[in-house]
Amino acid sequence: MTTHVLVTGGAGYIGSTLVPMLIEKNYKVTVYDLFNFGSESLLSCSLSPNLTLIKGDVRDEESLKKAMADVEYIIHLAAIVGYPACSKDPELARTTNIDATRLIVKNMNPHQKIIFSSTGSCYGAIPDGFCTEETPLSPLSLYGSSKAEGEQICKEVNGVILRLATIFGISQRLRLDLLINDLSYKALREKQFEVYESHFRRTFLHIKDVARAFVFSIENYDVMKGQVYNVGGDSLNFTKWDICNFIKEALPECSITQSNNGTDADKRDYKVSYEKIRKLGFEPVITVQEGIRELIMFLPHLSNEYIKHTKNV
Ligand SMILES: NC(=O)c1ccc[n+]([C@@H]2O[C@H](COP(=O)([O-])OP(=O)(O)OC[C@H]3O[C@@H](n4cnc5c(N)ncnc54)[C@H](O)[C@@H]3O)[C@@H](O)[C@H]2O)c1
Repeated sequence: MTTHVLVTGGAGYIGSTLVPMLIEKNYKVTVYDLFNFGSESLLSCSLSPNLTLIKGDVRDEESLKKAMADVEYIIHLAAIVGYPACSKDPELARTTNIDATRLIVKNMNPHQKIIFSSTGSCYGAIPDGFCTEETPLSPLSLYGSSKAEGEQICKEVNGVILRLATIFGISQRLRLDLLINDLSYKALREKQFEVYESHFRRTFLHIKDVARAFVFSIENYDVMKGQVYNVGGDSLNFTKWDICNFIKEALPECSITQSNNGTDADKRDYKVSYEKIRKLGFEPVITVQEGIRELIMFLPHLSNEYIKHTKNV
């Protein structure tokens, strides 16, 4: 029988790459989303008899219950995403990222399985700068703390928690507020700019590998359940300056220099271990250089109308 997956927030940056991948793999998919950024991102699977769209709010218990009724897996992506969007409306961030996660878990039946989309932002500033899944969480923002709370709630029902690296690359609903996407766009537009705190170490993952990780979690749910996994690759830990150098290689006419003026509001400076998920057999396949190449190829030709939908605040 076809496995039925509910994807909350399925029309967003991750969802719009993940949902077509699930459809392609013959899953039955229900997308439950407020469509804050429209539903155009899912047009590529519009003809599939296995796709259902529901416009709904994860904070609306009655509507949520109906959408959850006959699904086997819930991939919970819907959220107010990133520290700027959460700081702009903290109440909306708490009710969406925490209370709605509690509503989902409360309404799950014992056979349903949940995969929660968490983030490396939960770690915050790490004293020794090296994280494994056992490293205590000390989030620095409401975004990070609300996602850390979401993790705890999903653990109560033995869910799989994926702590994703910072994503890059092109998706049907694009986000340009993510570090590699943002710097690539800046390099194309401004040609010359400075980066501050360029020695900060971050960790990255291409959007297609993110989608593969969710599919991998469905396929390996029984061994992964009840646990947290950092999702990324050991070869995808880089400093901001490394990223700038990759961009300069792809766009030699662009000049990026290091500056001592300014601080990064995102204080994360860490290296993350991906040994746990690698040992289960998951490894990213797309490099940062490949992602920068696709960004540089597509970004100059996107319409202004499309670009408007790429910012979360
Ligand atoms: N993009 C990243 O780098 C990244 C990294 C780690 C974790 N995550 C997590 O992955 C998830 C998805 O992130 P994204 O980048 O796709 O974000 P996104 O903002 O592109 O997508 C979020 C989707 O959720 C929907 N949504 C928001 N509030 C809703 C509500 N109340 N009810 C129903 N739908 C609602 C929006 O309409 C949107 O389609 C989030 O939980 C985020 O915390 C993202």
